[in-house]
Amino acid sequence: MEKLERDTDSKSFKRLKNEVSRMIGVDYDNYSRSHLRRRFHARMRVVETPRFIDYLNYLKRNEEEIENLRELLAVNVTKFKRDKKVWDTIEDQVIPQILERKKESILKKIEAWSAGCSTGEEPYSLAISYLNNRPPDDVSLRIKATDLDEKALDFARNAEYPAKSVKNLSRSDMKIYLEKEDDERWGLKDEVKDLVNYKESDIFETSFTKKFDLILCRNLMIYFTGESKTELMERLVESLKDGGFLIIGMSENLRSPAKEKVESFDLKKRIFIKK
Ligand SMILES: C[S@@+](CC[C@H](N)C(=O)[O-])C[C@H]1O[C@@H](n2cnc3c(N)ncnc32)[C@H](O)[C@@H]1O
Repeated sequence: MEKLERDTDSKSFKRLKNEVSRMIGVDYDNYSRSHLRRRFHARMRVVETPRFIDYLNYLKRNEEEIENLRELLAVNVTKFKRDKKVWDTIEDQVIPQILERKKESILKKIEAWSAGCSTGEEPYSLAISYLNNRPPDDVSLRIKATDLDEKALDFARNAEYPAKSVKNLSRSDMKIYLEKEDDERWGLKDEVKDLVNYKESDIFETSFTKKFDLILCRNLMIYFTGESKTELMERLVESLKDGGFLIIGMSENLRSPAKEKVESFDLKKRIFIKK
C-alpha cells in the first residue's frame, strides 16, 4: 500500500472530517486534527485506502465501517479508580471536605458530575469512595454521568465488569460493593448503582444550568482543539459551586481564563477548587 496521506490542511481531510461529522452526528470540528488523523489512519490502514478521499468513498459504500470508525473515535478506555493515587486523595481528602461543608449547610444533597463517563467505572468509583466515607443519614449524593456514546452507557447501566477493570479496587471495596458473576465478570451492587444517573449527552451541547459540588472531567479534553478546551474549561468552572472541586486528567492542564478562577487543591493530581 502507498504511504498514508497526512496533510490535515488539505481539502480532502476537511471533507472527510465534515462528512464523518454528518454521518456519526458529532461535530468533529471540536476535536484536534492530529487525534482525528491518527484514528482515520488506523482504519485507512485496515481497509487499505491510503488517501482520505478514497476512505470517504469506502465509508459511503460500507455502512458497518461507520460503526467501526465511530467506536475508534470514541476512545472508551477507562477503569475503576484510574490513577489510584488521585482516587486515594478523592476518598481521603476531597469527599471528607465536601461532607464537612454539608454539616453546616442546609442543603444536604451533594451534586456531582462525571463528564465523559464512558462505561461507568469513573462515576461508580466516586460512589464507592463516597460510601467508604460513611456519610451521615441526612446527606445524599447524586452523580450525573454523561457521555455521547450510547453503547458505553448501556454497558455502564448493566454494571458488569471484567477482572482487569476492577483491579485497582481494594479487597475491601471488592468484598463490600461487588458480586462475582463468574470467573471473568464482577457485578456491582445496587447500593452503588443507585447513586448514578446516566444520560446520553455531547459535552458541547450540554446545558450547564446546575451548580455542582464536584465535577470529574478526566481524559476527555485531550482529544479536543485548544479553542474548544479553553471554552469547555471555562464552562466547567462556571458550573461549580463556590468551593466546588474540578478534577481533570493527569495529562491535562487548565487554561486561562478557567485557571484564574480556581485554586490548586493538589496540582500534581489535577484537583482544583473554585475560588
Ligand atoms: C477515554 S474515555 C474517559 C473515561 C473516564 N473519564 C476516565 O478518565 O477513565 C473518554 C470518553 O469521552 C467520551 N466523549 C468523547 N467526546 C465526547 C463529547 N463530545 N461529549 C461527551 N463525551 C465524549 C467518549 O465517548 C469516551 O467514553
